[in-house]
Amino acid sequence: MSRARAPIGVIGTGYVGLVTAAGFAELGSEVWCVDIDAAKIERLRRGEVPVYEPGLDELLARNAERMHFSTELADALEHARLLLVAVGTPPTYSGDADLSAVHAVVDAMPSSDEHALVMKSTVPCGTGASLQRVFAEQGKGGLGYVSCPEFLREGSAVRDFLHPDRVVVGDDGDWAGEALVELYAPLAAPLVRTDIASSEMIKLASNAFLATKISFINEIANVCEETGADVVEVARGMGLDTRIGPQFLQAGIGFGGSCFPKDVNALKQLAGNSGYHFQLLTAVIEVNELQKRRVIGKLQKHLGGLVGRRVALFGLAFKPNTDDMREASSLVLSARLNADGATVTAYDPVANEQARTLVSGIGFADSPLQAAAEADAVVLVTEWPEFTELDWEQVAEAMRGNLVIDGRNALDPVAVRAAGLAYEGIGRR
Ligand SMILES: NC(=O)c1ccc[n+]([C@@H]2O[C@H](COP(=O)([O-])OP(=O)(O)OC[C@H]3O[C@@H](n4cnc5c(N)ncnc54)[C@H](O)[C@@H]3O)[C@@H](O)[C@H]2O)c1
Repeated sequence: MSRARAPIGVIGTGYVGLVTAAGFAELGSEVWCVDIDAAKIERLRRGEVPVYEPGLDELLARNAERMHFSTELADALEHARLLLVAVGTPPTYSGDADLSAVHAVVDAMPSSDEHALVMKSTVPCGTGASLQRVFAEQGKGGLGYVSCPEFLREGSAVRDFLHPDRVVVGDDGDWAGEALVELYAPLAAPLVRTDIASSEMIKLASNAFLATKISFINEIANVCEETGADVVEVARGMGLDTRIGPQFLQAGIGFGGSCFPKDVNALKQLAGNSGYHFQLLTAVIEVNELQKRRVIGKLQKHLGGLVGRRVALFGLAFKPNTDDMREASSLVLSARLNADGATVTAYDPVANEQARTLVSGIGFADSPLQAAAEADAVVLVTEWPEFTELDWEQVAEAMRGNLVIDGRNALDPVAVRAAGLAYEGIGRR
């Protein structure tokens, strides 16, 4: 890189903050990371990576000299003008986004004409405008503000940072927007330069659209089950239409994670708060909730009741290649199975530890075969490669029953059936 890269601050070192920080360090910036979690900052200083994210260890190690970790906002303010905010915005009980962490950052900012907040956290449309009002009320009207929503996906976050489909910059056209555009320039991604409100809405609308696509194909799968069609074939035929595309057309037991459920709800609430009833999103959410529970019906259909039955869950994380358990389908599934009297043993290649703190009343195994031991049924919850590459003869030997529910349509039905097991997917013939 011929020109010196601007130093930046990153506030919040979770999945988004850490990947963003390491990514910009890789591009040549000195990066000052700030988090209120002192234990996390200590671990990061020791070179430990607090989350499971493929490729992140290497990226952090390679750029360790350019990365600085602190619990003090002042350290970032001293060295950087742009402060990228990546704090959590979890849902409240009402479904609205909880912006208390964002407000804590805003309140901690000093009056300055030299600094700007860059909002990477997902926030409701209108947040930027209201934070700019807060700046003015607090006598900090000189602070810049830019909306730059993040689209990376856990599991492929490093690649997504380095090769984004687009970079969205919503700003008022001042120095901060320009500086941010320059920061992202080496990635050579299509740039959407827009106003703050539209930028905020791009993020919410994108996630709501993807969630809608998932609930749509899940409903098609349910109709396939009634009509004898196979949703995998249907999705293949649909996905080749360039207007539709093949992505997010995999039927399964519903979406989870820290983004889709929360962002769909937040957009629905945002619309509701302004007097608009977003009917489509209400259905998307309801379909998703029912989809998680349909597995219970499938188990009951085959096993004739769940009391005393042993069920093995293959996978717990909300998707493969992450240890994130937020809103994972496995949480609902294990609670329902427990309530219906089944004994549940689960195994996830990386999320067992996270799950232990969230799920009670189930056993944890150290391998798929240990989880399947004496099970009446196996349910594939998360499509980790470890499960798709399993030797099903061994699984069949370990089980006492013979039922395999493929909750992600990720297994090879021929291989499962060849092992003498009964295979049932989602919407499959
Ligand atoms: N996880 C994803 O895949 C993803 C993708 C795109 C966007 N987002 C959005 O990015 C934001 C962050 O998500 P995440 O998954 O990285 O969250 P996270 O919970 O993993 O990390 C948030 C971090 O912020 C820290 N924090 C909280 N308050 C703070 C404060 N006042 N000062 C400094 N640090 C503070 C927390 O200690 C934590 O380390 C959310 O708004 C989320 O919706 C997440």
